[in-house]
Amino acid sequence: MKKRTLIQAAVAAAALAATATALAQDAFKIGLILPMTGQQASTGRQIEAAARLYMAQHGDSVAGRKIELIVKDDVATPDVTKRLAQELIVNEKVNVIAGFGVTPAALAAAPLATQAKVPEIVMAAATSSITEASPYVVRSSFTLPQVSVSMADWAPKNGIKSVVTLVSDYGPGNDAEKYFTERFAANGGKVIEKLRVPLRNPDFAPFLQKVRDAKPDALFVFVPSGAGAAVMKQFLERGLDKAGIKLIATGDVTDDDQLNDMGDGALGVVTTHHYSAAHPSALNKQFVEAFEKANKGMRPNFMAVGGYDGMHLIYEALKATGGKGDGTALVEKMKGMRFESPRGEVLIDPATRDIVQDVYLRKVEKKDGKLYNVEFDVLKAVKDPGKSK
Ligand code: PHB
Repeated sequence: MKKRTLIQAAVAAAALAATATALAQDAFKIGLILPMTGQQASTGRQIEAAARLYMAQHGDSVAGRKIELIVKDDVATPDVTKRLAQELIVNEKVNVIAGFGVTPAALAAAPLATQAKVPEIVMAAATSSITEASPYVVRSSFTLPQVSVSMADWAPKNGIKSVVTLVSDYGPGNDAEKYFTERFAANGGKVIEKLRVPLRNPDFAPFLQKVRDAKPDALFVFVPSGAGAAVMKQFLERGLDKAGIKLIATGDVTDDDQLNDMGDGALGVVTTHHYSAAHPSALNKQFVEAFEKANKGMRPNFMAVGGYDGMHLIYEALKATGGKGDGTALVEKMKGMRFESPRGEVLIDPATRDIVQDVYLRKVEKKDGKLYNVEFDVLKAVKDPGKSK
C-alpha cells in the first residue's frame, strides 16, 4: 500500500515536471534590448511603453503561445547590446530580439541574429544599411534617407536655395547629410557647409555660430531623438531665427516626446517625418489616447510607433506560422506584410525587409494650447532611397 502511494506520488511529480517543461517551451519570448538609461533613455521608455500597450490591447497569448517580454538595458552601447543579445539567445532561448535604440546597437546584434537564425526587429535605429547587416533584420522604424530626400524636394520649392547641414556624426547623421545634399543639389540648391557634431554630449553653440556667419537661407538638422530640444534652444539663443535663417529638419528634432516643452520659438519649424502624434486618423487618435492614459504625462513619439508596429509584425508573423515561431519562417511571413499603423499605411518591402511608408511635411503649430507637428503634405509609399543604389 505504502509502496503504491510512493509510486503514485512519483508519477504525479513526473507529470507535473513534464507539464512545466511544456509550458516553458510554449512561451514565446521576445528579448527587447533598449537604452533604458543614459542619453537615449527616452527612446527606451517610449518603446517599452508602446510594446506593453500593444500587449495589453491584443492579449498576451498568440496562436496558443504565451508571449513573454524580457526588457534589457544596453545604455545604447554596442558592446553591451552584443552581450545581452548573446545571453538572451543562448540562455533565455528567446524567439525574437527587438528594440535597438541606436544604429551601432542594431549592427552589433546582427551577426548573432544571422548565426542563431533569430529575427531582429529594429524598432528605432534608422541608418539605411542596417537591413543589409543580416537577412534576419526586419525594420519597423524608418530610414534617414527616406525623410531627408523629402525635405530636399520641399525646400527649394519654398524659397530655400542655400543650406548649411548640421548632423550627429555617425550612421544616421551621415545618411541624412548625404541624401539631403545630393537631392538638394539635383534640385538646384546649394549646400554651402556641412557640419558634424559628436554624438556624445554635443555642444551645439560653436557650430551654430558658424551657421550664423555662413548666412544660409536655412539650416538643415538631424540629431537623434532626445537631442532636439538642445538644438532648438541654442538656435534661438544665438538669434539665428532673427538673422533670417530658417530651421528645417528631420522630425527627430521636433520629437513629440520633447516638443511641447520647447516653447513658442519652435512655432513654424518645418520637418519631414513618418509619424506625428497629431496624425489625423481614427487609429492614431485611439493610439495616442490609450498611450497617454497608460503613461501619465507622456505623448507617444515616432519611437513608440516603431515599437508598437514591431510588436504587430511579431504577433502577426507568429499567427501566420500557426504558433510554430521558427525564426526563418517568421521573417518570411513578415516580408510583404501590409497594415494600417497609427502613422498610416505601411508595408515591409519583401526584397529589403525595410519599411515602405508615407513621409509627411509638417509644421509646428499650437493646437489646444499645445505644440504639435501638424501635417500639411504627404509623399505616399516612400521606399528607402538608400537601397536603390
Ligand atoms: C540611430 O541611431 O539610428 C537613430 C537614433 C535616433 C534617431 C534616429 C536614428 O532619432
